[in-house]
Amino acid sequence: MLSTEKQYVQWSENETSYQALWLSQSNHMPPARIALVDDKTTADDAYRLACEGTSLLWRGDFHNARQLLQALGRRIDRTNERSELRKIKKAANKSVTPKEIPNLFHQQRQLQAQRSRILSRLLLELDTGYISKLRRAPDMSVACTAAFGELDESCVLSFRDLQGALGAAQWREKGVPIKPLNVSVFPHYGVFAPTRHEYVQLLLDAPLPDVCGVAYDIGTGTGLLAIILAQRGVKQVIATDLNPQALACASDNFTRLELSSIQLQQADLYPTDAPLADLIVCNPPWLPAKPSSPLEYAVYDPNSKMLRGLLQGAKQHLAAHGELWLILSDLAEHLQLRTRDELLGWLADSGLVVKYRLDTKAKHSRSQDDTDPLFAARSTEVTSLWCLQSV
Ligand SMILES: C[S@@+](CC[C@H](N)C(=O)[O-])C[C@H]1O[C@@H](n2cnc3c(N)ncnc32)[C@H](O)[C@@H]1O
Repeated sequence: MLSTEKQYVQWSENETSYQALWLSQSNHMPPARIALVDDKTTADDAYRLACEGTSLLWRGDFHNARQLLQALGRRIDRTNERSELRKIKKAANKSVTPKEIPNLFHQQRQLQAQRSRILSRLLLELDTGYISKLRRAPDMSVACTAAFGELDESCVLSFRDLQGALGAAQWREKGVPIKPLNVSVFPHYGVFAPTRHEYVQLLLDAPLPDVCGVAYDIGTGTGLLAIILAQRGVKQVIATDLNPQALACASDNFTRLELSSIQLQQADLYPTDAPLADLIVCNPPWLPAKPSSPLEYAVYDPNSKMLRGLLQGAKQHLAAHGELWLILSDLAEHLQLRTRDELLGWLADSGLVVKYRLDTKAKHSRSQDDTDPLFAARSTEVTSLWCLQSV
């Protein structure tokens, strides 16, 4: 999501001043200091400048910019190995005590944020229509327009954001196969990509309420949960999301699958002017921490705002004997960002009762990676479908 107010980057080149629109997907401010760099700039020099806070406007060959970015990444990793990360890894290798986990999580996020800040200092200028004048630059206009919208002026953006847009364009074209469903969904840029499928099986296994004419999918993302409900025969599904990119993406996926009965609404949680629901499903962002960029809003839910809002509003939106299916990983509990008692307290305050719970162990690659400093927490992650009933 772009910030709505336009901001410009200024720099001087050959004794002439230039400016271009600043595009930042992490909502970073326009850079105050810019150095021009090209194929002759060494990775060590670029790294030193980037660490000092100078942004690097690339003037060389397009593919060499990608190589420079990789070289910067290796230097950051080496420096981290020598300092903070080594401490973290050491902590990971001996068995981490529960007391150390919150601090490790915090340190890991700080390191990631710092890595992202340094790498985001390598910049590219694109002409109107996202055209690059760089040698060997590919045609990026379709991918950039899909990610950042139409643009009728030149812009400067980080090479990382550009790579994000190019990667998203590939996903959008190829799709993510959802094995248990035998369909693919096609994520758009900035929309949560359902690459973990454990919870899909939970949604297929849970018995539908006896009467299930109307269902809501709150925070629909690509539309995956709404698709599951429609495929299971629910006649009217109303899907909401706050993020307009998600709504456009879900709409595309419903059209591809010819699911014209699913309605979409941009809403903070619940739809307005909708009939009461026999079933509400929601897979909220699962970690109660501050997102460091708009792209992280699907994972991080500051102060569990969405989760608590969902639970507080459920009873008034449910028909008699209606059910809420809450999909929630317990990783936040293992990271000590939330306690089980806190969650049980919110469930009780919702005025609903727990009818049953289905659990599945995490199978995604991060939960299997024993070099991850937080392996102790990640390897024990369980995702649950909490079926709560209105009585
Ligand atoms: C973890 S993603 C889940 C997406 C999708 N339901 C799935 O399971 O693949 C969470 C979604 O909730 C959306 N979201 C976050 N806060 C919201 C709110 N207050 N109201 C509606 N949607 C919200 C995000 O934009 C994101 O698409």
